[in-house]
Amino acid sequence: MTETNRPIRSFVLRAGRMTAGQERGWSVGFPKFGLTAASGLLNWESGWETRGRRIVEIGFGMGDSLLTMAESAPDDRFLGIEVHTPGVGRLLGQTLERELQNVRVYAEDAMIVLDECIPKGSVDILQIFFPDPWHKKRHHKRRLIQPAFVAKAAALLATHGRLHIATDWMPYAEDMLSVLQAEPTLRNTSEAGQYAPRPSWRPETKFERRGTKLGHGVWDLVFEKRDA
Ligand SMILES: C[S@@+](CC[C@H](N)C(=O)[O-])C[C@H]1O[C@@H](n2cnc3c(N)ncnc32)[C@H](O)[C@@H]1O
Repeated sequence: MTETNRPIRSFVLRAGRMTAGQERGWSVGFPKFGLTAASGLLNWESGWETRGRRIVEIGFGMGDSLLTMAESAPDDRFLGIEVHTPGVGRLLGQTLERELQNVRVYAEDAMIVLDECIPKGSVDILQIFFPDPWHKKRHHKRRLIQPAFVAKAAALLATHGRLHIATDWMPYAEDMLSVLQAEPTLRNTSEAGQYAPRPSWRPETKFERRGTKLGHGVWDLVFEKRDA
């Protein structure tokens, strides 16, 4: 909490109206595929037609990675969490257009969804691609990847479940590596102190493209939940 007693948020709600297509995606798609934190703990075994891996993506932006992955693995269950409403509208519109049955979405703060909705030990992959880097030192407290968050995320993973993070900001990548290595319930799938090779199946996202144009590198980190 800050002095004003407001929680520190990892996002700023950007202004931006939804396009007509995103509005349509939202109004038709949310009643079918939307979830709300107010409904409480998620039941992975009801409301899904498939029984494959349970994959959660935090901060999917415009949904590029989630949509591509959901389309190429129709038996897996994909749960997106994003606060940027145009992105949620786009994801829902595309879910309808591509006739995907395996996507569900929360349009709320992931901190709340992780605390109140996702059962512990239930997630096979938790992925966070290009989280806001919050470049300035005085803003580092707003970064998502911090020890308390990582401990919370690790508790949601099934045994051998994976936490997969990618970033294009080297100082943040270094910080992520030390935070993840310090979490005792996780182990690096690469050698200690090393990043993971970019997995061929991780689709390129809007922020990754932007970073690449600016000449940034990309760092993937893949950590696995240890045996209990
Ligand atoms: C830098 S963007 C990256 C978007 C996308 N993953 C990509 O690579 O193009 C980070 C995204 O995370 C979302 N975000 C940040 N904190 C969040 C939170 N606590 N809950 C849900 N979404 C969050 C932001 O709204 C934003 O869309």
